[in-house]
Amino acid sequence: MSKLLVTGGAGFIGSNFIHYWFKEHPDDQITNLDALTYAGNLDNLKEIAANSNYTFVKGDICNPEIVDELVEAADIIVHFAAESHVDRSILGPEAFVETNVKGTFVLLEAARKHNKRFHHVSTDEVFGALPLDSEEKFTEKTLYEPHSPYSASKAGSDHLVRAYHTTFDLPITITNCSNNFGPYQHPEKFIPRMITNLIDGDKVKIYGDGKYVRDWLYVTDHCRAIDAVLQKGKIGETYLIGGMTDDVNNLAVAQILLEYMNLGEDKIEYVKDRPGHDRRYAVDWRKINKNLDWEPQHTFAQWLQKTVDWYRANESWWRPLKAESEKMYKQSGQ
Ligand code: NAD
Ligand code: TYD
Repeated sequence: MSKLLVTGGAGFIGSNFIHYWFKEHPDDQITNLDALTYAGNLDNLKEIAANSNYTFVKGDICNPEIVDELVEAADIIVHFAAESHVDRSILGPEAFVETNVKGTFVLLEAARKHNKRFHHVSTDEVFGALPLDSEEKFTEKTLYEPHSPYSASKAGSDHLVRAYHTTFDLPITITNCSNNFGPYQHPEKFIPRMITNLIDGDKVKIYGDGKYVRDWLYVTDHCRAIDAVLQKGKIGETYLIGGMTDDVNNLAVAQILLEYMNLGEDKIEYVKDRPGHDRRYAVDWRKINKNLDWEPQHTFAQWLQKTVDWYRANESWWRPLKAESEKMYKQSGQ
């Protein structure tokens, strides 16, 4: 039996991870430390709130007192908490530096003091952009070249985590994953924004020419990969996690959604591009496949449809979040 401290467990991936973990490891204990920012939502964990192996603590990862006590009581820290949205990092970068860099530092200091296993959840966006129409993919050896305040702050946190291993021998692992989709994703992000716009009779908003490529992964596959790293990963190592989509661009994702929802291309609206917009992400996940026997299990088109069905069935979940995020997009003209 293990005691996990999960940070950011009320967000999209963190809450999916907690659901996943209790299903796979029902005897483990989880403490979820989350500040409940605009992105944190306890409704994601309603079914788990009464589980006697689960504790929720509302608190900021930048607060050393709260963090120290919780880290001391845990066996493993699984660190999801972050400001995670690129568009918000363009409108207001400071919170990204604070939470993603300083917050990670505060957690690392506590983990160092109590010598705890630290797993850091990061993104493929730290590597920057790949050219369109190339075969190239990110690997564990790709040099960091982040372009947005979000990816730069995540890159800073990755470097700190690795430095704590090299310098202080802290038992760490890092995963850098591609774009996730699935239930409980905030309607500010691309796929849920499109689905909820279409449910509301609005158009999908495509930035620039729409020929931007992301490597989509269903969120449960990400949780399974983190599980594999926690159980079998080598201390000090980084593992890249990616999906099964072969260069599907944003326009193509919109078209799959429109077809499934029986709507036409008149529902596509091209809007102002994002500054510094990364053209293409693609992940070579052969290392985690070969060493830890992980591969994605959820195919893109099928699970995109299931995700549409989830948003259709859970309007009361996303409805309260939608107005605020659309207000933000109005501010950026998108
Ligand atoms: P999210 O924005 O949905 O959730 C973030 C959570 O962290 C929220 O519950 C929020 O309340 C909490 N949080 C924010 N600041 C905090 C603070 N200072 N103290 C405590 N809690 C705080 O994010 P997500 O999409 O679930 O991403 C989780 C992690 O996975 C992030 O580290 C992100 O960089 C990484 N990641 C995300 C994706 C993706 O596609 N969403 C892909 C790869 C990696
Ligand atoms: P996003 O979900 O913000 O993830 P990230 O920028 O971290 O990859 O966006 C995914 C892609 O979709 C990205 O190329 C930006 C684009 N996008 C749109 O075209 N329209 C939208 O309304 C949003 C939110 C994103």
